Amino acid sequence: MKHYRYLLATMGLLLSAPIHAQESDAAKPLPKIESRNGRHALMVDGAPFLMLGAQANNAVNYPDFLHTIWPVLDQMHANTLEIPVAWQQVEPVEGAFDFSYLQTLLDQARAHEKRLVLLWFGTWKNTGYAYTPDWVKLDSKRFPRLKTRTGEDHGVLSAHGEQTLAADRRAFVKMMEYLRDHDAQNTVIMVQVENETGSYRVPRDYGAEGNRLFAQPIPPALAKATGKRGTWSQAFGAQADRAFNTWYTAIYVEAIAKAGKAIKPLPMYVNASLAGPSNVPDPTGVASGGPQQDVLDIWKAGAPSLELQAPDIYDGKSANVIQYLDKYARADNPLMVPEIGNARLFARYFYPAIGRGAIGFAPFGMDRSGYYNYPLGAKALDDKVIGAFALPYEMLDSIMRDWARLAYTHPTWGGAKPDDGSSISTIMGNWKISGEWGQWQFGMKEWTMFNPEPTPTADEPVGGFAVIQLSPDEFLLVGDHVRVNFEPAPGSPPNGIMLRAEEGRFENGRWVMSRLWNGDQTDYGLNLTDLPQVLKITMSHYR
Ligand code: DGJ
Repeated sequence: MKHYRYLLATMGLLLSAPIHAQESDAAKPLPKIESRNGRHALMVDGAPFLMLGAQANNAVNYPDFLHTIWPVLDQMHANTLEIPVAWQQVEPVEGAFDFSYLQTLLDQARAHEKRLVLLWFGTWKNTGYAYTPDWVKLDSKRFPRLKTRTGEDHGVLSAHGEQTLAADRRAFVKMMEYLRDHDAQNTVIMVQVENETGSYRVPRDYGAEGNRLFAQPIPPALAKATGKRGTWSQAFGAQADRAFNTWYTAIYVEAIAKAGKAIKPLPMYVNASLAGPSNVPDPTGVASGGPQQDVLDIWKAGAPSLELQAPDIYDGKSANVIQYLDKYARADNPLMVPEIGNARLFARYFYPAIGRGAIGFAPFGMDRSGYYNYPLGAKALDDKVIGAFALPYEMLDSIMRDWARLAYTHPTWGGAKPDDGSSISTIMGNWKISGEWGQWQFGMKEWTMFNPEPTPTADEPVGGFAVIQLSPDEFLLVGDHVRVNFEPAPGSPPNGIMLRAEEGRFENGRWVMSRLWNGDQTDYGLNLTDLPQVLKITMSHYR
């Protein structure tokens, strides 16, 4: 049946009648994000779901190119595809909507057993208007561009364009209506509203309307959320222009998301073209208006219909990546990584992401369309590159429901090999858990009498692990290219030992051991290599 549907879909023979009329599935509970005790779960079909995702290249969003995606996702063990739906492709003529691409996408995703996250490329795509329809691009009277300080047009549409908002919102609502009518089974689990909003070089619209609004006091909702008062300049000082553009971009996106949610309330989010991780960004050097880490509170106040703001990570420096993950993983902001570079070095950051409770992770550009965004990502998608992402995904693939369920209700932690190769560690209750790199499975690299060769990945940016603390003394462990040690934390009760290291899997939500690791397998720590193994560790104290 599955293959039959796929055949029909690829031959273009499926009718565009509502899919729920063709599928036997009864309507399922809507995807949603739940939060409790500072932790989050993406609920899909009524249960926590870990999005093992991949994003397609930008121009793969046409029926003839979708076939380039699925083999890569299968090879990666990905369960979710993130892919654009562009305003220009669904409303090429004003008021005439064509969702045939979306229907083909739904059909093919179902045939390949993948979920979808739709990326709405509307008013903003990478801080530009490239994905708006021609009739928008060509009418700057109705759809004004942001003005520079000297009154010139900038290559971004203004966040104050009322008609732009109305037109974008109408198209977005049409898309959500299409999903309501053709996706009862919720193949689409989330929607990204716009793509990397903001403006580079010109921090806000200096046109008449922008200037008029900028002279006003900051809106009460923003004052309440931030505790700030007065005009934009009084409240935000050197960041005033940027705070202003952030607010008006957020409320613009809010209007679109809210209208879409009134049709079908799927989880929705925005993604950030990131600023440097630790500084207060230069307002002219950052995508002013976007949801960077230092303006999340403005976005939260302005766009309450969005479940989360998310980082697009292309800066591969390990310390910076960890800072980004820490800044977006908040009690009021579920961590999701909708884009990360697809070079091999980025794969290891899957572990610190899920260790911070990430509900999803997606390297960018995972298809065979022949396009590569090097130097942000890989030069080419060879088996080694895909394999780096496939290994952790395969590890989690069959247990992703269990991981997501347990991570929602228990402490988690994860880390990746730092750029300098130093070891990493954390304390969870009575136990110190550490990871070191470049060790063989047996013995110590420091054994000079054997003078062992370096491991194949000793000098490579490979390796990481993540744990869930199932109970005070029990941990679920996944990782690759790492030696993990569990030991008593300083100051913890005496006589702490690792009692059991079980390799196993989950069946119907219950842990099933397949073997115990002991002897060589534990004498030198737990050595996780290139196999998709899942371990359950039990620590204890002897009398
Ligand atoms: C981030 C954007 O969100 C993506 O659409 C894409 O343009 C990448 N940058 C770079 O290829």
